[in-house]
Amino acid sequence: MTLPENFLWGGATAANQVEGGVLEGGRGLSNIDLLPVGSDRAAIASGQLEHLQWDEKHYYPAREAIDMYHHYKEDIKLFAEMGFKVYRMSISWTRIFPNGDDAVPNQAGLDFYREIFEELRKYNIEPLVTLAHFDVPVSLIKRYGGWRSRRLVEAYVRYAETVMTAFKGLVRYWLTFNEINILIHSPFVGGGLIFKEGDSKKQLIYQAAHHQLVASSLVTKLAHAVDPDNKIGCMLAGGMHYPYACRPEDYKQAIDSDRENYFFIDVQARGYYPNYAKKMFEREGIALAMEDDDLEHLKETVDFVSFSYYSSRTVSGFEEDYETTTGNLFRSIKNPHLQSTEWGWQIDPLGLRNALNQLYDRYQKPLFIVENGLGAKDKPDREGYVADDYRIDYMRQHILAFKDAVAIDGVDLLGYTSWGCIDLIAASTGQMSKRYGFIYVDKDDEGKGSLKRTKKKSFDWYKKVIASNGEEL
Ligand code: BG6
Repeated sequence: MTLPENFLWGGATAANQVEGGVLEGGRGLSNIDLLPVGSDRAAIASGQLEHLQWDEKHYYPAREAIDMYHHYKEDIKLFAEMGFKVYRMSISWTRIFPNGDDAVPNQAGLDFYREIFEELRKYNIEPLVTLAHFDVPVSLIKRYGGWRSRRLVEAYVRYAETVMTAFKGLVRYWLTFNEINILIHSPFVGGGLIFKEGDSKKQLIYQAAHHQLVASSLVTKLAHAVDPDNKIGCMLAGGMHYPYACRPEDYKQAIDSDRENYFFIDVQARGYYPNYAKKMFEREGIALAMEDDDLEHLKETVDFVSFSYYSSRTVSGFEEDYETTTGNLFRSIKNPHLQSTEWGWQIDPLGLRNALNQLYDRYQKPLFIVENGLGAKDKPDREGYVADDYRIDYMRQHILAFKDAVAIDGVDLLGYTSWGCIDLIAASTGQMSKRYGFIYVDKDDEGKGSLKRTKKKSFDWYKKVIASNGEEL
């Protein structure tokens, strides 16, 4: 058998993309609830346009999402039927602390997640919990400007301590921040940052990054103190950069672009700021405000490195007129050797093996693929059934690639949770029609539909994959 017997197969979601019920159970508003569908979405996500309350003009898909708030028992039952060993989900910070830093936690929120974890335990499914998946309480943005403020460190650590203590024994795997490098590309989504005239954008982004890195290290230490069985991971929006051609300038650009992303993980997995970052701060005039013990705190490193993988990226050292493409919030030169999805994300299964090798060489820590999958337009038949052979094919190729990384290259891989195991709201566009799931959810881009769940063809396929530990693909 190629993969270890205890390999963690499963699926992944995030609270804001599935739960809905945003004002139920005493929950407060989060940054991500305020992202509408349509042309303003990008400007809000990047922190260029302040938009801190709902209005009539826009449609906000997170308000209902797929209403897992009321369907979680049915959904977890389906995950169990596929044989999930692990389910990656996130806790919504504002369900626990509606304003981010309230004097006492919201009991209804704690009860809700306890019920989910107990339901998972019923089926022997291990939860893998992201503490912050694009999730900053709006109240903290209004009062302090989000992660630009040091105050967020204290609030986040208290939130983490509350849930880790409450769910001790029920949850062992934790991720501190989803795709922490997204802060650079989408500062409002990653850090609740909104830029005002005269702000130095880079200074603010790296100051917020410093706060998140310190918070992450404090929570790593705390997690081990709360329960020595806890395992803490960092989380990267992964996918390495290829040089467009074999010109040395292109290769140098690939190294520089990789570093921009690895900066965060370099700190979380190695415990200190890398020299290239210190030099960049000097060059760019970035001065980080630090407290005395910060560098000491950063020495607390994570137990494992997790990442999302949808695509590789391509860069060049020259400003030429290349055709570009999008992909998970990063612009990239279009790689002529790869096919693309309907959303222009380029498909590169071998790139997953390359990424695993690069990360393992760099960090020598166990790795975890916590997101991967194909966003596609599904066409259900009259009964609502989708024959999604394209999704099966995509996943088969990616699974083969990570099996090679384990079997041939010797990478230490803990598990694989495919993204959007049940159809959910897309993070980049807010669309429902960009579907990733093994389970179809009847809902459209305008929010209409019965929310009925139907198994797709990939449901039975993935069940077989898990049952055979990846041997039958
Ligand atoms: C990652 C996020 O960026 O990619 C997820 O962690 C997101 O939240 C996923 O949904 C896929 O992106 P999209 O835009 O297709 O939903």
